[in-house]
Amino acid sequence: MSATPAIEYDVKDIGLAPDGKRRIEWAEREMPVLRLIRERFASERPLAGVRLIACAHITTETANLARALQAGGAEAVLIASNPLSTQDDVAASLVSDWGIPVYAIKGETTETYNRHVRTALDFHPEVIIDDGSDVVATLIKERADQVKEVIGTTEETTTGIVRLQAMANAGVLTFPSMAVNNAQTKHLFDNRYGTGQSTLDGIIRATNILLAGRTLVVVGYGWCGKGVALRARGMGANVVVAEIDPIKAVEAVMDGFRVMQIKEAAAIGDIFVTVTGNRHVIDAPHFERMKDGAIVCNSGHFDLELNLVGLRELSSEPVTLRPFVQEYKVQANGHRIIVLGEGRLINLAAAEGHPASVMDMSFANQALSVEYLVKHKGELQPGVHLLPREVDAEIASLKLRALGISIDTLTPEQIEYMNSWETGT
Ligand SMILES: NC(=O)c1ccc[n+]([C@@H]2O[C@H](COP(=O)([O-])OP(=O)(O)OC[C@H]3O[C@@H](n4cnc5c(N)ncnc54)[C@H](O)[C@@H]3O)[C@@H](O)[C@H]2O)c1
Repeated sequence: MSATPAIEYDVKDIGLAPDGKRRIEWAEREMPVLRLIRERFASERPLAGVRLIACAHITTETANLARALQAGGAEAVLIASNPLSTQDDVAASLVSDWGIPVYAIKGETTETYNRHVRTALDFHPEVIIDDGSDVVATLIKERADQVKEVIGTTEETTTGIVRLQAMANAGVLTFPSMAVNNAQTKHLFDNRYGTGQSTLDGIIRATNILLAGRTLVVVGYGWCGKGVALRARGMGANVVVAEIDPIKAVEAVMDGFRVMQIKEAAAIGDIFVTVTGNRHVIDAPHFERMKDGAIVCNSGHFDLELNLVGLRELSSEPVTLRPFVQEYKVQANGHRIIVLGEGRLINLAAAEGHPASVMDMSFANQALSVEYLVKHKGELQPGVHLLPREVDAEIASLKLRALGISIDTLTPEQIEYMNSWETGT
């Protein structure tokens, strides 16, 4: 086993490092695009000496992103982006085997989570990788003197980008932020196929429920919701969608799902999954209408999609049936409502998050966004930026190459045709 590291850190048990190392290296085999970037970073060192903090789910895939950033020369510090998503063996291995300071413990309290955010800010980061914008929000609210040290930030998830846009509108975002989530090679795959599969994995690991024949209600038919609905249908569930956007709702109808208001769906669902990025989309009156034994969980970024405070007021003290499974009894009708993962994103609380092969592209975007920020230091306007389209296309090309798939290219005749208007019927 590795020697005790001479760096500061806060992980559950440093002795878990060997397990973490084996899993990190296994995940790396599924991340060929990130590996190519790491190899290039190791020779070019584009991030030499850059102080960087990454607030992310501390998983095997994030560990491989951290390795790429370190190979590029960054001095990286990692903290968890959610109190329940840390893999403790991975956190230990990053500290022990790669000498990367990590402050993350699965099940940490909200106070510890916030303390870790502040500890990370004490490193005076020049680049911040954020997931949900908690670090950037804390920086702006509490560390005004440090804001000028920041070259830029990157944001992993939809909710974080909504917050960044709100900061920009309020005139408080004074540095550039790369909207990693909005790259096509991120949300088309990570949010749809990653969240789709791993959310069901979380539900099944927590409950061992058979999905076939059950009515599964998906609240929110965005990228994540589409993935959850598609995968649940594939496993034989009768999928019902609740939406507030008429275009998404029509899309869900045309995709073959029943669409209805959540108050109607509440009465017929066996399993509920929220993926909206919005607050209290399942509220107290909806819990009151649910069937006895209904299972409810969230896979959106924050734990406020389910109004659990409201549910608690309606119910007797919840009973923990098994890890990540709490049963509430609604006093008015005696119905038992089963809440998974305390309303936190279920795919990370009860399962392992997205598979490595999909995070390969998301984290390729992260690594290249950090490189882009550093390369264009001082040139980018404050606000939310997209990675250039060519970078997105390059990540997709690398992924195809890694999968051994070749695609066609336009012939000169086709290029000429696509750029002309004379030829018609
Ligand atoms: N679990 C994960 O690993 C994971 C991965 C990626 C994104 N996320 C998070 O999941 C959430 C959704 O992300 P996305 O990329 O699908 O976003 P999105 O914007 O594509 O979709 C969200 C959908 O929710 C709908 N919505 C909003 N309020 C609603 C309400 N009250 N009732 C019904 N529908 C409502 C919106 O109209 C939209 O169609 C975000 O919080 C995001 O950060 C989680």
